[in-house]
Amino acid sequence: MDGNFNENDISRVVEADRAHIWHHLSQHKQYMNDDASKQVDPRIIVEGKGMRVWDQKGKEHLDGVSGGVWTVNVGYGRERIANAVRDQLIKLNYFAGSAGSIPGSNFAEKLIEKMPGMSRVYYANSGSEANEKGFKMVRQIAHKKYGGKKHKVLYRDRDYHGTTISALSAGGQDERGAQYGPFTPGFVRVPHCMEYRAFEQEGAPQENYGVWAADQIEKVILAEGPDTVGGLCLEPVTAGGGVITPPDGYWERVQEICKKYDILLHIDEVVCGVGRTGTWFGYQNYGIKPDMVTMAKGVASGYAAISCLVTTEAVFDMFKEDASDHMGYFRDISTFGGCTAGPTAGLENLKIIEEENLLDNTLQMGDYMLDQLHALSEKHAVIGDVRGKGLFLGAELVADRNTREAAKESLVSAVVGDCMQQGVIIGMTNRSVPGKNNTLCFSPALIATKDDIDQIINAVDGALGRVFT
Ligand SMILES: Cc1ncc(COP(=O)(O)O)c(C=O)c1O
Repeated sequence: MDGNFNENDISRVVEADRAHIWHHLSQHKQYMNDDASKQVDPRIIVEGKGMRVWDQKGKEHLDGVSGGVWTVNVGYGRERIANAVRDQLIKLNYFAGSAGSIPGSNFAEKLIEKMPGMSRVYYANSGSEANEKGFKMVRQIAHKKYGGKKHKVLYRDRDYHGTTISALSAGGQDERGAQYGPFTPGFVRVPHCMEYRAFEQEGAPQENYGVWAADQIEKVILAEGPDTVGGLCLEPVTAGGGVITPPDGYWERVQEICKKYDILLHIDEVVCGVGRTGTWFGYQNYGIKPDMVTMAKGVASGYAAISCLVTTEAVFDMFKEDASDHMGYFRDISTFGGCTAGPTAGLENLKIIEEENLLDNTLQMGDYMLDQLHALSEKHAVIGDVRGKGLFLGAELVADRNTREAAKESLVSAVVGDCMQQGVIIGMTNRSVPGKNNTLCFSPALIATKDDIDQIINAVDGALGRVFT
């Protein structure tokens, strides 16, 4: 670098990236290999419009994963969101969340309209952080009502709730947690509810698996002592752990168990929230009544960093009932939870989903894509299972359909790489469950058309044919 940096010179951008950026979830050796023939350039995404993004070489890609991690729900290049955020930033960019703001109130009111039974919005700036707020609430309630005893939070095998140490302590994906311990005490794992892999769980029945899987949670509660368990944190449809749709009967039983033992049900909607499954929130597919709901990624489709923890009025009330206790309210802050860009972008995002009927589109296109994936599984024996809800789908690849032995991760990754070569970005479960990073993931924006989905399916079809010859 000679100080004459030209920000439009893309080769300089690539070199600055190679020299100074530490990419997320990435091994950097590939960008800085001593053997130049083995070195590749880091990928820089330069522009996006609708369902498509362009890289530093000008190559167009159809984005089948909404920004890589199921985020850009309304697609790229939405000028109305950018304009609303710009106008708000000029008026007031920030004030700490101990005060209110106009976009904060407006967005909260609109959000709560979509969440009957819920009532209070607490702003933060990442999914991990919102989940941590939920864990803190469980602990503080334990102190206020139960002498600190009822403080444990249960989480499920294969679920993920974030990257911070306590969120990883509640993480059911051992590869995410490996090498980052010791972890925060007070988090206890319950078994997964993945019907396709029920045969790996001791005692799992052929029938009524959903009720059995929920009953395993009760077993853990009884073993820990119900008077020690304050919260249960679950993804409505597990995302990075394998796109796991819950089996029939599961949620009804989970709700009963929570009621029976006075355990707060915390639903992590960081991926499913704001339209992804064809309902405003994933839990609304299953008729459950959570006490706390966390959301992040799709809340503002990545146009601003925002996350929310939404609670019922009953949870909120526990923190205000005794004003004489000077320690009794929720003594928490998130500096950037006071940024006005987040709720401003969030409000426009909700309006776009409403005005363009994107929930309907998600249901229709989701059904279409699920059918197309099933059709692909007739052709490619390597597809062991296809599952998902709305535009949130997965295809699990196996070495053998009878034994359900997972396909090799390197081959699954080769399928993703082949699609990328074809200009189609798909995902896979990544550094998640040891030996089981074998599910292809699809989460196109909620604006996806049949043509977009056909293009994704054709790319996967070609890639599977080439990789598994
Ligand atoms: C279900 C779920 N919860 C929480 C998180 C953490 O969100 P963030 O990366 O914004 O901290 C993620 C991120 O992938 C997620 O998938």
